[in-house]
Amino acid sequence: MRLKDCYKTADFRKLARRRLPSPIFHYIDGGADDETTLRRNTDAFECVDLVPNVLAGVDSVDTSVTVLGQRLKFPLFFSPTAMQRLFHHDGERAIARTAEKLGTMFGVSTIGTRSIEELGALTAAPKLFQIYIHNDSGLTSELIARCKRSGFDALALTVDTIVAGNRERDYRTGMTTPPRLTPKSLLSFAIHPGWTCNYVFRERFDLPNISTHTQVGSSVQSSIIDYINGQMKRSIDWDDAARMIEEWGGPFAVKGVMSVDDARRCVDIGATAIMVSNHGGRQLDGSRAPFDQLEAIVDAVGGRIEIIVDGGVRRGTHVLKALAMGATACSGGRMYLYALAAGGTAGVERAMTLLKAEIERDLLLMGCRNVRELNRSMLKRRSQEG
Ligand code: FNR
Ligand code: LAC
Repeated sequence: MRLKDCYKTADFRKLARRRLPSPIFHYIDGGADDETTLRRNTDAFECVDLVPNVLAGVDSVDTSVTVLGQRLKFPLFFSPTAMQRLFHHDGERAIARTAEKLGTMFGVSTIGTRSIEELGALTAAPKLFQIYIHNDSGLTSELIARCKRSGFDALALTVDTIVAGNRERDYRTGMTTPPRLTPKSLLSFAIHPGWTCNYVFRERFDLPNISTHTQVGSSVQSSIIDYINGQMKRSIDWDDAARMIEEWGGPFAVKGVMSVDDARRCVDIGATAIMVSNHGGRQLDGSRAPFDQLEAIVDAVGGRIEIIVDGGVRRGTHVLKALAMGATACSGGRMYLYALAAGGTAGVERAMTLLKAEIERDLLLMGCRNVRELNRSMLKRRSQEG
């Protein structure tokens, strides 16, 4: 299988699996506990059907949306994800360049492998920085100041990772940052010489957004789980979020909101957006899928805060279903991470171009001129009859 044979997320996943040593592949692919939530995040979209309108006289569509102060050409953007240079040496640059080329926004993780400064200088594409509040309180203010200086457009505070999810695949494979050659993983690195040569001979692995404050995860090896459990502040609360909104002073999202009450509190503290998310099923297994929770959240806070559905998106129709239910936009991780591993910048560009084309084609097939015309009359739950 080659990149040009990949048409959907499952194809890129297959190719990624061939290219990556197993600890790296399973780090991307895996979820917490029994991975019930991981599966449910995508399956949830299949419980609702689209009901198109025909003979609508539509010959072109406008898929643009405004989210977090940014005009995006289509309603799907890159969620922030850690460690991208482990998946392909292009790393975050691939995501930044594709966002610019296609006209969408990209997220950068606190645990990213390219610096805020480098990505700020690389592209004018809309950029969101994702913050993890660490025990080292100086780090948060430093990150916010660096984002301001580097022209980042929006900030997202991740609130669902105060402790690491139980990612059993990572225990089994011995996944660490930086990766460690153990007797168990040695074979896996040896049979992926392309990946291993790039890792050994290209630029040294670093986590430049945090390595000013801690060497854990860059020169001091650690499992991701130990990193999260040792570094993240568990006691973060609404006051921390409200203070951050004030300190940042720009478009702000709370990432990892699932309950209606929490969505209301995000309105109260003045957040611009919520990212309805369970961290791609990597944290609390058994948590509801973002799409399953969407209707109740839109009914409670729709129109007062932007609502981003994050997780499980694998097809253009998933995005249309979320928007018809009342979401502002969608975001995703694995939809582009497998493609990054499969083919670097070319892979990410191919995967996102295909998804963008799906959104356009499916909107035409729905008989809509733009995404604002999508509404709940075009959705039917499978359990509803008549
Ligand atoms: C993530 N995610 C994530 N979220 C975050 O706030 N900070 C981070 O550093 C990371 N890192 C990360 C790494 C990997 C490998 C994955 C797969 C995910 C979660 C991410 O932003 C998003 O919420 C999920 O990926 C959404 O689910 P899907 O789209 O992967 O199904
Ligand atoms: C993860 C963390 C780093 O999901 O957000 O792996």
